[in-house]
Amino acid sequence: MELQTIKDKDYKGKRVFLRVDFNIPVENGEVMDDTRIKAAIPTIEYLLKQGASLIISSHLGRPKGKVVPEMSLKIVAERLGNLIGKDVKFISDCVGQEVKKASQVIKPGEILLLENLRFHKEEEEGDDEFAKELASLADCYVNDAFGTCHRKHASVYGITKFFKDIAAGYLIEKEAASLSKLLENPEKPFLLILGGAKVADKIGMVKNLLDKIDTLITGGVMAYTFIKAKNWEIGDSKVEMDAVPLAKEIVREINKRHLEFHTPLDHIIADKIAPDAHYFATERGTVPHNWIGVDIGPQAIEEYTDCIKRAKTIFWNGPMGIYEIEAFAKGTIEIAKAIGQHEGVFSVIGGGDSVAAVNKAGVADRISHICTGGGASLEFLEKGTLPGIEVLKK
Ligand code: 3PG
Repeated sequence: MELQTIKDKDYKGKRVFLRVDFNIPVENGEVMDDTRIKAAIPTIEYLLKQGASLIISSHLGRPKGKVVPEMSLKIVAERLGNLIGKDVKFISDCVGQEVKKASQVIKPGEILLLENLRFHKEEEEGDDEFAKELASLADCYVNDAFGTCHRKHASVYGITKFFKDIAAGYLIEKEAASLSKLLENPEKPFLLILGGAKVADKIGMVKNLLDKIDTLITGGVMAYTFIKAKNWEIGDSKVEMDAVPLAKEIVREINKRHLEFHTPLDHIIADKIAPDAHYFATERGTVPHNWIGVDIGPQAIEEYTDCIKRAKTIFWNGPMGIYEIEAFAKGTIEIAKAIGQHEGVFSVIGGGDSVAAVNKAGVADRISHICTGGGASLEFLEKGTLPGIEVLKK
């Protein structure tokens, strides 16, 4: 994929409109995870070093075109400033006279962070006038918001036509290269590990990967949807009934291609989804009446670890159970550890919970690539590109 990148350009004395994805979890006014802020730092530091001034923009949450104080990016300005040891000026809007003025007086080496783009409904509508107004703030455009590149929003897509000079930042370059590696001649065996919920959202990606993978292993709601598709008992386990026909279709395709496919050999089952639940391991791959499957069992962990040890390429998306509850997190953590301990594998992990699991298991630095975009990485693996990336091509 031939992207225009920041390395090809000259930023000396230029005002750069930098779109990033600072859509981070914030609770009670506190930043809960700054991974996405850290992921944008190489591009920020490079541009500043080249002599640019930065007008940084992002969305946070889904305020639906209204000002929602809890979704203000002010808190991010502070965190970014602390992380890079520099003053980050914050302005309480992203368009208008005051913003225009601030963008005109900014000097090389300085950073201005704009308020949440989605406080204006025009951002998500992909409105051209709004995109033009954003573009009028700077001389050139850099996009490093990989997690948002599947959206045709004004600041990601439409805005590019109002600049002569556009480029992808380091994060987009790295994400696109790692995900492309999974699609173009991945080293075999290629193992796909699928867990978590949102089954229907992941089916497109699975279908596209079926011609590349050798093995598919499943956990969480994903597994229960496939088990249901086999007409096996799943008790009261969480399942996506709407996705059962899609799961059946996937199983037919898997069988046609003679791929290795696993649902858990056993499960941890509980009487309720709560830390004080009664729970134990089943001896088989079904869940009895009135019980809820909450994690993969010890036999499944062993079998999945063996699949991981045999793989040369791995893509993992979604936890193996109700990972938020300590007692039901073992399967997910063991999968994370097994991937981290496996030498010589190209491993890519996407989706918030799987990323949290590799962090918790202390193996994040042993993963080849950790995606910063959930929906974006799935869509990239389904379609081989994203609208926000297409517009950055040479
Ligand atoms: C994400 O968190 O996946 C991106 O920031 C995109 O957010 P959205 O799903 O609200 O468009």
